[in-house]
Amino acid sequence: MKIEPSQKMSIFEPAIFGKLKAAAKLKEETGVEIIDLSLGSPDLPPDEKVRQVLSEQSALESSYGYTLGGTKRFHEAVANYYQRRSGVTIDPDTEILKTMGSQEGLVHLPFAFCNEGDIVLTTNPAYVAYEVGIKLAGAIPFEMPLRAENNFLPDLDAIPEEIAQKSKMLILNLPGNPVPAMPTTQFFEKVIAFAKRYNIIVLHDAAYSEFYFTGDKPFSYLSIPGAKEVGIEVNSLSKSFSLAGARIAYIVGNPEIISIMKQFKSNLDYGTFEPIQEAAATALDHAEEITARLRQEFKERHHVLTDGLSESGWSVTPSNGGMFVWAKYPFEMDDKEFTFEAIKQSGVVMVPGSVFGSEGAGYVRLALVREVEALQEAIERLAKIDVYVNS
Ligand SMILES: Cc1ncc(COP(=O)(O)O)c(C=O)c1O
Repeated sequence: MKIEPSQKMSIFEPAIFGKLKAAAKLKEETGVEIIDLSLGSPDLPPDEKVRQVLSEQSALESSYGYTLGGTKRFHEAVANYYQRRSGVTIDPDTEILKTMGSQEGLVHLPFAFCNEGDIVLTTNPAYVAYEVGIKLAGAIPFEMPLRAENNFLPDLDAIPEEIAQKSKMLILNLPGNPVPAMPTTQFFEKVIAFAKRYNIIVLHDAAYSEFYFTGDKPFSYLSIPGAKEVGIEVNSLSKSFSLAGARIAYIVGNPEIISIMKQFKSNLDYGTFEPIQEAAATALDHAEEITARLRQEFKERHHVLTDGLSESGWSVTPSNGGMFVWAKYPFEMDDKEFTFEAIKQSGVVMVPGSVFGSEGAGYVRLALVREVEALQEAIERLAKIDVYVNS
C-alpha cells in the first residue's frame, strides 16, 4: 500500500530546529561543548512551591479523571492574577479558556473564526505557529513588516483598504518573538480603533509579558479601554513560570470569542491533568515573587549578551523586554548559511532570522536560555568567527 500525506501536510514543513540539532551534534562529536541558544525553552526550574503542589496532587488517587476544561481553581487564579497585575477584571466563568500550552490555542483560533479566503493580519517576522494556524484554517496571511523605523511595531496605516475590509483577525505579540519590541498605549489604542472600524478580532499573544528589564512592565492588551469588545489575550505559563513542559496556558477576554473556542475545544481534547492546573494556579497566586526572581536573572543575561555582541561589532536591536536578542551579525552572508557556519566554527546555536519571515533575513535570534557565564563564553566564541577564512 502506498501511504501518502494529505495536501494539507505541506503546511507543516519540517522545523529548522532538527537541522540545527544535527549540525550541533556533529560539532559536539569533535569534543566542543555546545552552547545552544536556539529554543526559547526556559532553563530555570519552576518555583519549589509549584513543584511541591504538582507532586502532592499527583499522588492523590482522585487526580486522574478527565477535567474537560479549566478547573474553577485555575480560572479564579487567572482572574486574580489579571486583576492584581494589570487591573483588568475578568469573569472566571465566561472570559477564560484553558489551553494545552498557548501554541495549541494560537493554532486553533483562526480555524474557529476564519472562512476559506479570509485574511488574517500578521507580522513579518512572527512566531511561526501563527502562519500554521492561518493556513490550516484556509485563511490567507497578510504580513505587516516589522521595521526599525517603526520601533518594530506594525504600521496599520500601510494596510491597503481592500485588505483591511477582508480581514477577520489581527495577530500581535508584544514583547515579541523573535523581535523583542514592546507595546505602547498609543499603539494598542490604534489597534482597537482599527479593529472596530473593520470588524476584526484582535489576538494578542502575551507569552513574554513577565520579561521586562526596566520598571515599565508591558501592560496587558486588555487593560486598554475597548480591548475586550474586539479581542482576546493569549497567555502562557511556559515562559513566565518555567512550566513549558507542563503545557498549560489560557485565553482571556471577549466572552463570545471564548464561548466559540470552548465549543470547538470540547471536540478536541478532554482537558489538562488536574495537578498541572493546581500547580499553575499556585504559580499565578505567587506571580509577583516568582516572576521578580526570573526577571532579575533574564535582565542580567539580556545586558551581558546585548553588550557583548555590540562590542564585537554586531548590530543588536535595542529592547527592554522579551526572551530573545535579535541581532545582525557583522558579515555579508545569508542568515541560514551564517547560522550553520557559526555552529561549525563556534559551537553556538542560534536561529536564522529568515525562519520567522523574509524581514528576518540578515538577522539571527539568540534565546536567553543559558546562564551568564555560558553567554560570555558564547560571545567570545562568536567574536572569533571568520566567515572569509573558513567558509
Ligand atoms: C510568541 C510565542 N507564543 C507562544 C509560544 C508557545 O508557547 P507555549 O505553547 O509553550 O505556551 C511561544 C513559544 O516559543 C512563543 O514564542
